Amino acid sequence: MPQAHVPASSTAATQAASGPDAVAAAVRHVTVIGAGTIGASWTALFLAHGLRVTVSDPLPDAEPALRALISQAWPTLVALGVAPLQVPWLSLDLQPDPAAAVAVADFVQENAPERESLKIDLFARMDEAARPDVILASSSSGLIMSRLQSRCRRPDRCVIGHPFNPPHLIPLVEVVGGQQTSPDTIARAMAFYRRVGKHPIRINKEVVGHVANRLQAAVWREAIHLALENVASVEDIDAAMSQGPGLRWAVFGPHMTFHLGGGQGGMGHFLDHLKGPVQSWWDDLGDARLDETTRAALLAGLEQESAGRSIDDLAAERDAAIIRILAVRQTR
Ligand SMILES: NC(=O)c1ccc[n+]([C@@H]2O[C@H](COP(=O)([O-])OP(=O)(O)OC[C@H]3O[C@@H](n4cnc5c(N)ncnc54)[C@H](O)[C@@H]3O)[C@@H](O)[C@H]2O)c1
Repeated sequence: MPQAHVPASSTAATQAASGPDAVAAAVRHVTVIGAGTIGASWTALFLAHGLRVTVSDPLPDAEPALRALISQAWPTLVALGVAPLQVPWLSLDLQPDPAAAVAVADFVQENAPERESLKIDLFARMDEAARPDVILASSSSGLIMSRLQSRCRRPDRCVIGHPFNPPHLIPLVEVVGGQQTSPDTIARAMAFYRRVGKHPIRINKEVVGHVANRLQAAVWREAIHLALENVASVEDIDAAMSQGPGLRWAVFGPHMTFHLGGGQGGMGHFLDHLKGPVQSWWDDLGDARLDETTRAALLAGLEQESAGRSIDDLAAERDAAIIRILAVRQTR
């Protein structure tokens, strides 16, 4: 049977016009639900990218706290080269009623407290109020979207978009759908996060803690085990990461790092050469618990490592270094 002739270029143009990138580019108004640590940081990022932002939080003093957090985040966004010098305060408004807040949105980023029953209820209410084509994304660090979307009429548009703290600075966003999330929602969410300068990764299966927190948890469990066994001090164990593998891992992840560890033979040679020792290290890893002994050991070790620097001092030191690292990475 003869095929209808459709010019390739016009098909591609039509797909591009309605594809995930085009839909993401059409987002003008984002609603942020929950204006705590993460919601405020997302708000700063969205404002920096020229978006209009409506924020909803039940706290009566949410607005001054939000404005203070945005003002604090802004110099970082300016230093990263993504924000104008002045905060565009006119693009921000607060709306305590979450239904009214999501009704005006082209994209919703939810950042309410990490309680499953609260988020299930919130998702059902947001789903009632938002336009049917609008993505409802949750910043949840560990909850499962299949459960959060369980009372939605349009569960296909619900997705986890898990940032790393602070979202205005750290590029990673982990995107994972629930059982009823559509592939189109995943693609559109990833396109939107790319549009605001993030590096989204696709997670194929729902697992507690997603991917990055599980990687951190694995390393931290062993770091605590080594401290409790007095193999080295808390400070030296931190240096073992930040002055060693952490520098390589900021460029390539663990797989690519060990691929390079095999020289010209790459990962094949690395495994042939070192699989025995690595397997024996795995077999010897510790199983630390987050109990009172651990708490006391970490607090004492961190007091020494902090050397009089306040939490704010340390956070500023960390963020200034990350800005420099990101600047170098952008020029790679
Ligand atoms: N803090 C982190 O490092 C981090 C990192 C990534 C993701 N997350 C996730 O982000 C989400 C928010 O975490 P956070 O650290 O910003 O918490 P937070 O406690 O700092 O902020 C939560 C905010 O939600 C508001 N809130 C309470 N009930 C609400 C409701 N019914 N509707 C809307 N807002 C409500 C609170 O008033 C508060 O301002 C959680 O799901 C958490 O897992 C946190």
